[in-house]
Amino acid sequence: MSDHGERWRPWRDRPLVFGAPTIGAAERDEVIACLESGWLGTGPRVAELERRLGAYLDAPTALAVSSCSAALHLALVVLDLPPGSEVITSSMTFCATANAIVHAGCVPVFADCDPHTFNIDVADVRRKITPRTRAILPVHFAGRPCDVAALGSLAREHGLALVEDAAHALEATVDGRHCGTFGDFGCFSFYVTKSVTTGDGGLLVARDPGLADRLRRLTLHGMTADAWQRSADDGFAHYEVVEPGFKYNLTDFAAALGLHQLEGVDERWQRRLAVWRRYEEELAGLPLRLPAPAAEGTRHALHLFTCLVDDSRTSVARDDVLEGLRALRIGTGVHYRAVHLHPWYRRHHGERTGTLPNAEWVSARTFSLPLSAAMSDGDVADVARALRLIFA
Ligand SMILES: Cc1ncc(COP(=O)(O)O)c(C=O)c1O
Repeated sequence: MSDHGERWRPWRDRPLVFGAPTIGAAERDEVIACLESGWLGTGPRVAELERRLGAYLDAPTALAVSSCSAALHLALVVLDLPPGSEVITSSMTFCATANAIVHAGCVPVFADCDPHTFNIDVADVRRKITPRTRAILPVHFAGRPCDVAALGSLAREHGLALVEDAAHALEATVDGRHCGTFGDFGCFSFYVTKSVTTGDGGLLVARDPGLADRLRRLTLHGMTADAWQRSADDGFAHYEVVEPGFKYNLTDFAAALGLHQLEGVDERWQRRLAVWRRYEEELAGLPLRLPAPAAEGTRHALHLFTCLVDDSRTSVARDDVLEGLRALRIGTGVHYRAVHLHPWYRRHHGERTGTLPNAEWVSARTFSLPLSAAMSDGDVADVARALRLIFA
């Protein structure tokens, strides 16, 4: 409980949900049609979602999976890297990015981030390449494209695979080309807070179409035929297991929720842009560092509005900001506490404080404000009012 008395008394009658989805009639109707069809498992709706997403991203090989975590893991698995291979990634990311490297039997090597964009620092990636490095796994942080040109040429120069964590970056582009399509693989998330959601779900985009069959088998235990194929009109087909796979398939039930969301994806991006601009205006005088502008020639997906508490201008600590916003019923997030400082990575990888100064500096000051197309101007005003109270 907060002891800040009147100042922290919430005025909103309901909480402002962090990353609230925008679900319309078309989504509801499709989910009900799926329920009534009698087919909830992987089938025609998943195939249609893959077709639409592939077209949107201009990515011919697009595979719907159960999460972006699954997509990251699969991408690393099909690279068939020798055990103990090093994969360089950002510490300024969600733990799923690094965990996928561990699950693939590889060693995450953390690079620092840029202190303004929070994207991976390419110079530090270069410094961290060793003879054991096999891949680079950058993250398009908050939906801001990272330097795909520099990372691509670094990967080519050293014969490394490039796997893009595009969990935040469905709408992000560089020179009109979608993030997630520059590397060997691109991994997208349809978790509840994402701009297209299937409840939980993801997409794996592969540059090499020759990998599509193997990837699809690996999403379903390594079986040669899924239930939809086995029940096809042209006769019953037995399946065989050709390698031990995973349970990473997306269901038609989940795909039904996402199927129509692409239709409004640009409209919702525009609404988030309007919310973003209002934040920039309303928060201008507060002791905060607001997100840097998008680089020229790029489109920021505007997934997270991530601020830093400017401790040169306030004595209010980041965690007090989080507590104040919580008390005032404003949803928040922390993106992220640097992954290398989490206990498992300290214990098993010998990670320690002081090794990645930018990531650690951001980690101690960062917090994200609600950002969603479902937000009204009044919601933005409430967030700004809450922050003014907190910093008063
Ligand atoms: C940067 C990043 N990578 C990976 C993931 C994992 O996504 P999912 O929840 O779909 O597995 C997330 C989740 O939000 C994320 O933020």
